[in-house]
Amino acid sequence: MTAPILEMRGIAHRFGGLDVLADISLNIAAGEFVSILGPSGAGKSTILRILTGGQRPDRGEILFEGTTLEASRQPFAFMPQRDALMPWRRVLDNTTLGLEVQGVKRAEARRRVQPLFAEFGLEGFETHYPSELSGGMRQRTALLRTVVQQRPMMLLDEPFGALDALTRFGMQRWLEAMWTHHSWTAILVTHDVREAVALSDRIYVLSPRPARIVHEIEIDLPRPRTVAGPHQPQMTAIENTILELLLHPKEE
Ligand SMILES: Nc1ncnc2c1ncn2[C@@H]1O[C@H](COP(=O)(O)OP(=O)(O)O)[C@@H](O)[C@H]1O
Ligand SMILES: [Mg+2]
Repeated sequence: MTAPILEMRGIAHRFGGLDVLADISLNIAAGEFVSILGPSGAGKSTILRILTGGQRPDRGEILFEGTTLEASRQPFAFMPQRDALMPWRRVLDNTTLGLEVQGVKRAEARRRVQPLFAEFGLEGFETHYPSELSGGMRQRTALLRTVVQQRPMMLLDEPFGALDALTRFGMQRWLEAMWTHHSWTAILVTHDVREAVALSDRIYVLSPRPARIVHEIEIDLPRPRTVAGPHQPQMTAIENTILELLLHPKEE
C-alpha cells in the first residue's frame, strides 16, 4: 500500500466515567474509501469528532500526510450525522455554506456548486427550501455541500441513516457510481453491514464500547456492487462474516 494520507495511532477517549474509545489505530491512503463499521453507541461519531478537532483525545496521535494534525489545519470536509441543512436557506445557499465558511465569496461559491447540481439530481431545486425536498434530496444536498469543498478527504457520518430502505439503497447505488467516477478519499461511518461492503475498499469493524478495532477487511470485489452480478455470493459471505463479529463479539 502507498504511504497513508491519514493515520490514527492508539486513540483513546472517555467522557467522564464513560470509556468510549479504548484503542483506535487506523490508516487510509489517498483515493481509498474506508468504512468504520460498528454498533450504535460504539464511538463512531466520536472518532470523527476527534478528527475534526471537536474533541481532544485523551491518548494517541493523529498524523496527516506524515505530520501531526494540528487543530488549525483542517483537511477534512465533514458531513455530520444529522443532515444539518439550514431550514431558512435555499438549497443553493445551503450547498455553498461549506465554501463560505472557508472564506469563499458567495458569488464564487455559487459558480462552483452550480455545475454539480445535475450530477446530484438537484437541478431545478436550487431555490427550494430544505423542507420542500425528499429525504434523499436533502442528503444529496448535504453531500454536495461536502464534496464541493474539495478538501483532501471527506468524513461521512451515517449519511443515509435517516432514510427509508428503498431511498437508502438508491442513494448507495448513486454514491457508488459517483465514487467510481471521482475516486475521492473518504471515511464512511456506518452501522449498516451491506452499505459498508457495497461501498468500501476496506472496512474497520469496531467492538461495542469501549471501541477497539476487532477486524480489518479488504473488499476486493469488482464495482459496481450494488447491481446484481456474479460477485453477489462473495458479498453475502463477507457480510455474514462481519455480522457474526458484530453479533458475537469475543469476550476479553
Ligand atoms: N459530548 C459527550 N459527552 C458525554 N458523552 C458523550 C458525548 N458524545 C458522545 N457521548 C457518549 O459516547 C458514546 C459514543 O457515542 P457516539 O460516538 O455518538 O457513538 P456512535 O456514533 O457509534 O453511535 C455514547 O454512549 C454517547 O452517549
Ligand atoms: Mg454516531
